[in-house]
Amino acid sequence: MTSQHIIDPPEDGHFRNGGNNQPSPTTLSIDLTINGETHSLDIEPRVTLLDALRERLALTGTKKGCDQGQCGACTVHVDGERVLACLTLAAQVEGRSITTIEGLADADGTLHAVQAAFLEQDAFQCGYCTPGQIMSAVACIREGHAGSDEDIREYMAGNLCRCGAYPHIVAAVRQAARELRS
Ligand code: FES
Ligand code: FES
Repeated sequence: MTSQHIIDPPEDGHFRNGGNNQPSPTTLSIDLTINGETHSLDIEPRVTLLDALRERLALTGTKKGCDQGQCGACTVHVDGERVLACLTLAAQVEGRSITTIEGLADADGTLHAVQAAFLEQDAFQCGYCTPGQIMSAVACIREGHAGSDEDIREYMAGNLCRCGAYPHIVAAVRQAARELRS
């Protein structure tokens, strides 16, 4: 089960090129708003949000695990909802507000409560799944799906951890949910 959302393509199936409403078979000019900053990119329509973040914008905090929607390592937020960046085309999220792990802490470097809880609870080993786990956990808490360990396990089930750090991940989400509620 995955709790991440899939973003539908435009109704007519065409992504727009530079706002001139002409479908382009080769390159699109798009503006992406990521962590409050606008980035202009010329990309092929087939480029995923994950590859745009990692390969074009050097935002490598978002990880590529399976690249096919199975592991959750690539979880980011689009308009506050968690999505899998490997299943989302960059062109689909033009005009939306994208948040990655790099944008979660405050501007002064103060960690988000979920980041701090992951550190305190030792909720990682190799750390490869951790950015996706944290982005998913922030959304899980915001959605009201962190009221019990059972809920947390169910609504975080789309985020796999090959190191098996699940008990610590659940403890971190539980701690952060408690802190954010109080
Ligand atoms: S890399 Fe996107 S779900 Fe695995
Ligand atoms: S900490 Fe290694 S995959 Fe989760």
